[in-house]
Amino acid sequence: MTKQHIETTLVHAGRRKRYTQGSVNSVIQRASSLVFDSVEEKKRATKGRASGELFYGRRGTLTHFSLQEAMCELEGGAGCALFPCGAAAVANTVLAFVEQGDHILVTNSAYEPTQDLCTRILAKLGVTTSWFDPMVGENIADLVQPNTRIVFLESPGSITMEVQDIPAIVRAVRSKAPDAIIMIDNTWSAGVLFKALEFGIDISIQAGTKYLVGHSDAMIGTAVANERCWEQLRENAYLMGQMVDADTAYVTSRGLRTLAVRLRQHQESSIAVAQWLAEQPLVARVNHPALPQSPGHEFWKRDFLGCSGLFSFVLNKRLDDAAMAQFLDHFQHFSMAYSWGGFESLILANQPEELAAIRPGGQPDFNGTLVRLHIGLENVEDLIADLAAGFARIA
Ligand SMILES: Cc1ncc(COP(=O)(O)O)c(C=O)c1O
Repeated sequence: MTKQHIETTLVHAGRRKRYTQGSVNSVIQRASSLVFDSVEEKKRATKGRASGELFYGRRGTLTHFSLQEAMCELEGGAGCALFPCGAAAVANTVLAFVEQGDHILVTNSAYEPTQDLCTRILAKLGVTTSWFDPMVGENIADLVQPNTRIVFLESPGSITMEVQDIPAIVRAVRSKAPDAIIMIDNTWSAGVLFKALEFGIDISIQAGTKYLVGHSDAMIGTAVANERCWEQLRENAYLMGQMVDADTAYVTSRGLRTLAVRLRQHQESSIAVAQWLAEQPLVARVNHPALPQSPGHEFWKRDFLGCSGLFSFVLNKRLDDAAMAQFLDHFQHFSMAYSWGGFESLILANQPEELAAIRPGGQPDFNGTLVRLHIGLENVEDLIADLAAGFARIA
């Protein structure tokens, strides 16, 4: 049989009859108590509580099982833990594998709350963090210590979009610390565009809040683990009380059905906008993994199957407060919001010193204001016209 394409997997994954019960989508089974008809059935449920038997609401219902199975099929894992949001997925996945005295290596381009987890929570528990430059490649071997327990990647990096040489990093870490757990915040790729586990990464974490849900109306986190990490992740997440309600699990499964077509449009439009931006006199640089000038473009080309809608660009000047408001307050199609991954276009801006504050051990190599865009599903000509009007306001 030929290998099934991703679009087909996304339509079918997790839709076994046990979960759909005759409808197209999985049922929404809201439950705390799950009732046993006999002592025998209670025994069976207890024995199989970690492997798909209905046991107690916190272990999941048919709605959760359906999503977990779909995510495993999508990302090629042994199991998928569900969390109430992406930050919870990051925090609990890291916490599941460290103990006092451990050391972890984290990219300095990681999402800011991931960095804060290290400096504010892990530090209190006696776990130390070293930061690495996202372009470190095989030189990460020099940073591995005898007590390095976790290597945490995020590629492309938050806001500045550096794509890492993941095969080189994985090789180097495995040769120095075979037992270290390598995890990635894989939200940008939606688990579709970068097949993390196929690259030897142990756990792929997503803020499902973004592309999986896709409509900016629910929050969820997912962590898909390989065989060697699954049991520990599953039991730690359970003991930490991590779960999500059935309705959110349902809308996440529903998001999967349209994920491939949404991503295709995010890709097409974001590349068109990025190419247009690269020609604008006010733009010094565009950080979009599909553009040759973007850091790590060659790794994106080699390792990724496409791109999504989030990227950034740097202006050739620094906007003062008045110009910033003039630029950002009047867009028709770009809203200002901290999230991304939904159907709508978004814009945010950062000054270089704000970025410097969230790049431990690194410094931004630019002086202009950085603008981050999420390109949604609107018509791309309307988006470009909106941006052109924005540039006219600060020319
Ligand atoms: C890369 C990345 N990871 C994780 C998160 C956290 O996700 P959530 O907001 O669902 O907690 C975000 C949120 O913006 C993010 O951008």
